[in-house]
Amino acid sequence: MPTLTIFNSVPSQPTPSNAASPQPDSSHTDRSQAAPSQPPLSQTASSQTGSSKAGSSQTGSSKAGRSRPHRSPQTGLSQTGSSQAGRSPAGASVTGASPAGGGEAERPIPAVLGADLQVPVKGGRLVGYANLDYAASAPCLEPVSAAVTAALPAYSSVHRGAGYASQLTTARYEQARHTVRAFAGARPDDAVIFTRNTTDATNLLAGCLPEGTTTVVFDTEHHASLLPWKKSVRLAPPAFPGEAVRAADQALAAIDGPKLLVVTAASNVTGELWPIAALAHIAHRHGARILVDAAQYVPHRRLNLTALDLDYVAFSGHKLYAPFGAGVLIGRRDWLTDGEPYLKGGGAVRSVGDTTEWHDDPEPRHEAGTPNVLGAIALAAACDALTATGWTALVHEEERLIARLRSGLAAIEGVHELSLWGDDHPRVGIVSFTVSGYTAREVAEILSSEYGIGVRDGKFCAHPFLQHLLGKSDGGCDDDTASAVRASIGIGTTDAHVDRLLEALRNLTTR
Ligand SMILES: Cc1ncc(COP(=O)(O)O)c(C=O)c1O
Repeated sequence: MPTLTIFNSVPSQPTPSNAASPQPDSSHTDRSQAAPSQPPLSQTASSQTGSSKAGSSQTGSSKAGRSRPHRSPQTGLSQTGSSQAGRSPAGASVTGASPAGGGEAERPIPAVLGADLQVPVKGGRLVGYANLDYAASAPCLEPVSAAVTAALPAYSSVHRGAGYASQLTTARYEQARHTVRAFAGARPDDAVIFTRNTTDATNLLAGCLPEGTTTVVFDTEHHASLLPWKKSVRLAPPAFPGEAVRAADQALAAIDGPKLLVVTAASNVTGELWPIAALAHIAHRHGARILVDAAQYVPHRRLNLTALDLDYVAFSGHKLYAPFGAGVLIGRRDWLTDGEPYLKGGGAVRSVGDTTEWHDDPEPRHEAGTPNVLGAIALAAACDALTATGWTALVHEEERLIARLRSGLAAIEGVHELSLWGDDHPRVGIVSFTVSGYTAREVAEILSSEYGIGVRDGKFCAHPFLQHLLGKSDGGCDDDTASAVRASIGIGTTDAHVDRLLEALRNLTTR
C-alpha cells in the first residue's frame, strides 16, 4: 500500500488565492527526487515579450494590473508512495542515461498495469494481450495508479474548502499544475489549464482567439487540431519538411490581422516528427502564434516549450499513461485572459451581482466547476515517472522496437507502410500500413480474434490525411476501403509483441 504522509502540522486556513499553501512534509517524497529536468521555473521566456490582443506579437501577459498571479505551491507533495520497482519493456531493468545537459534522473522504466492481461482467441484459448494501440490510449503506468490510490483517501473538494482534506487535495491539484508545467518546459508565466483532453484544449483555445484570427492548418492534422477554428486556411500535405515551412511562410504572409499556425509535433498516422521549431520561427516572423498538438509527442519525446519557442501546446493524459480523463492546454496568458470563460459557472467567477465579474487568471477562468483533480494528479504522476526514468532510455528502447517492427513490415510482401516524408524521416513509435487483399477492418479483426493483438484500424480522425496517403476519396467513417491499420508502441511493448504481429501478417499475406 502506498503511504500517505501529510503535513507536519495542520495548515492555516486557506483562501481562494492561497488554498495551495499547505506545506506538506517534503521529507517523504519521490517527487522531490524526481524533480523535472526541464529548465528551472525561474528561467525566463525567450526574447518574445509584450503582447497584444491584436495578436501581432508573440507573448506574454497583457493587462498588467488586471491579472492576479496564479499561485502554485513549489514544494513536493508526499502522496506518491509509488516508487515501483520498474521493469523494462522486456522485463529487464533498464536505467536511463543522462543526455548532455539533460540532468535527468535515472530510474528503471516503470511497469504498466495490464502487462499480464489474458484475452480469448478463436478456439477458446487465452493468450497474453499484445497491446499495439498506444497511440489511441496508453495503458496506465504503475506509478500513476499508485499516485491516484494514494490521493484517494484524502480526496476532497478543491479551492473552496476550509477542511484539512480539502486543503491537501487543493495543494495536490496545484502541485500537479506545477509538475505538468515543468514537464512541458513552459515559461514561468504561461497558463497551465487542465482540460479533458487534447480536443478540449484546442477547442478552449479556439474560443479565446482574438476577433478575426485566421488559423493556418495543414490537412495532415488530427481532427482535434483541424476542425475547431472559425476561420482557417488549409494547406495541402507538404511533400517534404522544408515544404511545410515554405507553405506556412507563404500562407502567413498573405494574412492580415491576428493569425495562428496549428501543427502537430508527431503525426498520429505515420508517427513522423514535424519541424516545429522551424515552424515556430516562421510563425513569429509573421507576427503569428503557434499551437502545437503534442498529443502523440509527449509520450515519446521530451517537450521543451520554451526552447522550441512555442506559444501553446496541448496534450492528453490518456495517451501519456494517465488514463484518468485529464488533458492540458499550456501557453501564453493574454488571449486566455481575454477570451470568454470556457464554461460559465462557479470557480470561474469572481463576483455575481447585477453584473458578473469573471476571473482574469486563465486557470480559474477556464476551469469552472469541480475540476478533474484525480486526472490532474495522474497526469502529473506520469510526467514525473517519465522524467525520472529519463528520455534517453525511453527513446532508445522505443527506437529499437520500432526499427524491428518497420524492417519486419518492409520484408512482408503485400504490406505497405504509410509515410509522408519517406522511410528515413524520424518518427515516434507509430506505424500505419495497409495489407493487399484485405480491408483494414478485416486485418484488425483477424489480429485480435486469432492472435490476441490489439491495433487500431480506420482513418484515425485524420480523414484528409488518409485520403492523401491512400490516394482515395473519403467515404466517411464507415468506408473501410480507404482505411489503414495502425500499430503503436510504448512502455510495456516487448520484442515478443512485435514479433507476434509480424508473424500474424506473414501468415495473413500467404493464406
Ligand atoms: C495528434 C492527435 N491530436 C489530438 C488527438 C485528440 O486527442 P483526445 O482524443 O485525447 O482529445 C489525438 C488522438 O488520437 C491525436 O492523435
